[in-house]
Amino acid sequence: MDVYKIKGGNRLKGTIKVSGAKNSAVALIPATLLADSPVTIEGLPEIADVYILKEILEEVGAKVTFENGTMTVDPTHVEDMALPNGNIKKLRASYYLMGAMLGKFGHAAIGLPGGCHLGPRPIDQHIKGFEALGAKVSNEHGAIYLRAEQLEGTKVYLDVVSVGATINIMLAAVRAKGRTIIENAAKEPEIIDVATLLSNMGANIKGAGTNIIRIEGVDALHGTNHTIIPDRIEAGTFMIMAALIGDGVQIDNVIPLHLEALIAKLQEMGVVIEEREDSLFIPRVEHLKSVDVKTLVYPGFATDLQQPFTVLMTQADGTSVITDTIYSARFKQIDELRRMNGDGRVEGSTAIIKGPTPLEAASVRASDLRAGAALVLAGLIADGETEIHDIYHIERGYGKLIKKLTALGADIRRVTLEPVEISNADNAL
Ligand code: EPU
Repeated sequence: MDVYKIKGGNRLKGTIKVSGAKNSAVALIPATLLADSPVTIEGLPEIADVYILKEILEEVGAKVTFENGTMTVDPTHVEDMALPNGNIKKLRASYYLMGAMLGKFGHAAIGLPGGCHLGPRPIDQHIKGFEALGAKVSNEHGAIYLRAEQLEGTKVYLDVVSVGATINIMLAAVRAKGRTIIENAAKEPEIIDVATLLSNMGANIKGAGTNIIRIEGVDALHGTNHTIIPDRIEAGTFMIMAALIGDGVQIDNVIPLHLEALIAKLQEMGVVIEEREDSLFIPRVEHLKSVDVKTLVYPGFATDLQQPFTVLMTQADGTSVITDTIYSARFKQIDELRRMNGDGRVEGSTAIIKGPTPLEAASVRASDLRAGAALVLAGLIADGETEIHDIYHIERGYGKLIKKLTALGADIRRVTLEPVEISNADNAL
């Protein structure tokens, strides 16, 4: 069993580079299946979700190479295989195989997805879109079966603004007959990134990044080259880290426009942020003011930054309040922060945090990806050596984290713990 051990207190200084966006990568990779010749994507993050998707694509017959962040997928011999179990259950974003396989073959069978447990995460809006396009959908023993004679363009109104549903409907609709209009679509940068790849493959998509997306179906899609956008959530995590314990940190490969809500809140807390062309510089912060935050769909404050942000709130002067309107139960980090002497409590979908409280090292558990990121930040400022368990959650979304943080001066190691034997009588309970 591997854990992270972090000795807190080192001031971080220097330059850190953001990787390609995880939430784009997990959609771009399945999208490559729609082409009839090789697609190359550059700048992919080296994270567990990407490696699992590579294996899934190989299972269905694609030839895939992945080196130094560049993946080439040759989908020429992909088969319409059912994927009810196995790797498909290891990540939530495997639901993009539904849209991609449905768009390519007119049918698909995909196991219901796994991923982080953040409370209820239904996929009813994805299903609504597939049905509107003419697919018959059934849930058979935990796998979703989609079958269509011919996908037909249609109008879909999303009852909930959903990143996943918007992308999944796009993936299926690019090969449907006629025009599809997605109303109340999500506007996240990752949606624009997927639409850009699909357009370069020959799809006809207009309006990605607005709440109405129009797609004219085409008969075939071809190979192309694409460079992924930077990960705004990884960038945001590093910005929070720089505000917590930086001594002058430059964050490279950032699109500041994607981070406007976080930048505004950090500035409200007293953090100085110097925006450069595709990088940000955050000087050492001496004093943080408390602040209130509500997560919202893009361009609002991202739910994925809520958990790391609560660590910053423990160091702010006064009471801060943060409400998550996207995932009401995404607060499992608060209990772990309390173990580290943080003063926080959860009421419904809101966390109330008093500061500043010096954090103390403890043995803590990452319950999900962004809770894990929050605990890394907490460990970096805590007094003593923090041990973080269940780090596989963190490694689903943050590539080369130890290397990146060590280069800034952090004392963080990945350590294999030996199993403890409780066999002798002295230890018996
Ligand atoms: N929702 C429904 N029905 C649906 C789909 C969503 O009710 O059919 C609800 C969800 O329960 C949630 C809200 O709508 O309350 C938004 O969900 P959305 O579909 O937008 O989320 P997602 O596509 O499942 C992506 C990211 C998440 C990120 C959310 C919100 C990927 C692979 N995941 O999830 O990322 O939190 O959008 O921005 O893109 C993470 O990176 O840590 C992460 C969890």
